[in-house]
Amino acid sequence: MSHKLIKRGRLMLAVSGLSLAMAATTTLAADTDIGPLPKLKTDILKAELGKRLFFDNRLSGDAAISCSTCHQPEYGFAHPDALSPGYPGNGHFRNAPTLINSAHKGVWMHDGRLGTNLNDVTREMLTETYIMNMDMRLMQERVKQDPEYVRMFKEAGFGEPSNGGIRNAIPEYLKTLTSRGSAFDEDRMSQAAKRGMDVFKGKANCVECHNGANFSDNKPHNTGVPENWDIFLNPMNHQAFLAYGLFMGVENIYNLKRDAGAHVQTHKADRSDMGKFMTPGLRELNYTSPYMHNGMIKTLEDVVDFYNQGGGEDSHKSQKLKPLMLSDTEKKDLVEFLKALSGEKLTGKEFVWDAPYPAEYEAYANWRHIRN
Ligand code: HEC
Ligand code: HEC
Repeated sequence: MSHKLIKRGRLMLAVSGLSLAMAATTTLAADTDIGPLPKLKTDILKAELGKRLFFDNRLSGDAAISCSTCHQPEYGFAHPDALSPGYPGNGHFRNAPTLINSAHKGVWMHDGRLGTNLNDVTREMLTETYIMNMDMRLMQERVKQDPEYVRMFKEAGFGEPSNGGIRNAIPEYLKTLTSRGSAFDEDRMSQAAKRGMDVFKGKANCVECHNGANFSDNKPHNTGVPENWDIFLNPMNHQAFLAYGLFMGVENIYNLKRDAGAHVQTHKADRSDMGKFMTPGLRELNYTSPYMHNGMIKTLEDVVDFYNQGGGEDSHKSQKLKPLMLSDTEKKDLVEFLKALSGEKLTGKEFVWDAPYPAEYEAYANWRHIRN
């Protein structure tokens, strides 16, 4: 499908004098594959357990932060700071991405380094020292102490609380975080948003990279987003940057003043793959500002201006990005279209665990006879 899109994109450029008129008049739905997301089947009891775990501070080493510290429901399960917080005593060197629709992806992280499943991503979040710094053996024992977990694990069919169960239950909960109720999906976009969709698919050709139900080709590209200097100037962020770069074997890491991006995967000797980042989905943008892997762009208007200039400056920038010469109206319409891709906030009880966690547990009277 994406091949078709790419070809079509070239065609539009080749006839750019005509393209505006064409884009405005043709119905494009048939030759692009943007559309509603499929519903995912979820196991209710496992997802409910995953929800309780997601909001539970006891899953971090010092019991001070949970997944929701960085992935906050109010902000579309992203974080409003440009650079994510880290485990206490650390910062992070990237923007915390939205988790809405993450279960619809096949490749995760801004550099696309995890391509297996959400079970692995969850393990990385839990055990990475600058994220939750949790020891898996300790985690299992902690969770076992809470009678409520003992009951929930059993009812969900996991037997007694275990690391494996935790790493299955959280992804099950993540499946429930699927967009719903956007004007785009419900076919009730304003006239401006509809015109913006034509610009998106036509003159601006955003659809070349942002396609499919989640508006992503799941590939890395260099768009020339400027570096966020807090990564190098703030020791809290920089130490996480170094820890990560050393672990991934990034060359010359102590002198490097840029995020290597997908280079950690492809390791090209000429470094032409430096600064490539995964195309993010475009749903729920109304809640997830600031944007890009390092939070360098604050508003959707600024994002559109960025692309209108042909992206940022980088010697290895994608050839696909060129100045777009959009009129003010086209820019506004494009922003309206992007806004129409956001749906309901997922902040109700269905998605957020709001019951208190016990501070102390009653000891089992017959503890000496319970196997664990
Ligand atoms: C201290 C902040 C922090 C905490 C706590 C945290 N995350 Fe993350 N999460 C991040 C950041 C930052 C990234 C992006 C990292 C990167 O690209 O290198 C991320 C990425 C992810 C992704 C990949 C999203 C995508 O679309 O690629 C998933 C899924 C995820 N986190 C789930 C979780 C879960 C589940 C937990 C709890 C077990 C959790 N996170 C805890 C900061 C955090
Ligand atoms: C060459 C492929 C490509 C094209 C064409 C493209 N994008 Fe992107 N887009 C990306 C990549 C890659 C990123 C992530 C860059 C980063 O994190 O540094 C991105 C990021 C974004 C973001 C930020 C999302 C977030 O959650 O942070 C928005 C919004 C966006 N693009 C909109 C658009 C619009 C509108 C157009 C058309 C004017 C467009 N893109 C054209 C590849 C592309």
